[in-house]
Amino acid sequence: MSEPSIVPPHTRTIVELGMGDGRVLEALAQGDPQTVYIGIELDREQCDRARERIRLQNAFVMQGSFEELVPRFPDESIDGFIAILPDPSFIDQKKEEQWRPFYKTMQAKLKRPGAFRIVTEITDELLQPVGQDAFDLWSVWLAETFRSLGFKVADMREGSPAEYSSRCLDQFRGDPERIRMVTIDLVKS
Ligand SMILES: C[S@@+](CC[C@H](N)C(=O)[O-])C[C@H]1O[C@@H](n2cnc3c(N)ncnc32)[C@H](O)[C@@H]1O
Repeated sequence: MSEPSIVPPHTRTIVELGMGDGRVLEALAQGDPQTVYIGIELDREQCDRARERIRLQNAFVMQGSFEELVPRFPDESIDGFIAILPDPSFIDQKKEEQWRPFYKTMQAKLKRPGAFRIVTEITDELLQPVGQDAFDLWSVWLAETFRSLGFKVADMREGSPAEYSSRCLDQFRGDPERIRMVTIDLVKS
């Protein structure tokens, strides 16, 4: 009989982009010890908070820009990416031409099948409640955009996953008419 491996039995790798203070990363890693979770965050203070918070063998914090770090992963090496409330420069409709290349690169890093969960929000420019028509148009645009980047939409629903708690999510949930969120589960097509 062969010796048991000294390598931990992690079978999957999931990367969170812009993880803030690491609350979601910690909760996910705690509930899923077979998976390695890597959180990437630009802000040093947020990374320090995440490192103080997370004491798990299967969760790692990388400080830096995901634009620089994600291209360094080998192609088809990552099981999943998560982005919770990315900054407008990575999801705003008017900035699409700027951010498209990043998600295209990210898609190449996913295994087949690999998943990308994005939680994002729409607000009205005048900070009025977001009407249903505007919400629907925006949701369709999001789905079409990610389809054109090589993803299939596996699921799409209004709101954010109830089991996730983060600084921004908790704040946005306090104003659900003016900040409407959507959760999209994408798979590499
Ligand atoms: C709106 S906050 C959301 C933070 C966290 N996901 C949450 O839900 O509380 C966006 C985060 O993305 C980080 N960020 C922005 N651009 C980034 C980049 N290029 N690379 C890594 N992190 C980035 C910001 O520092 C910030 O913490």
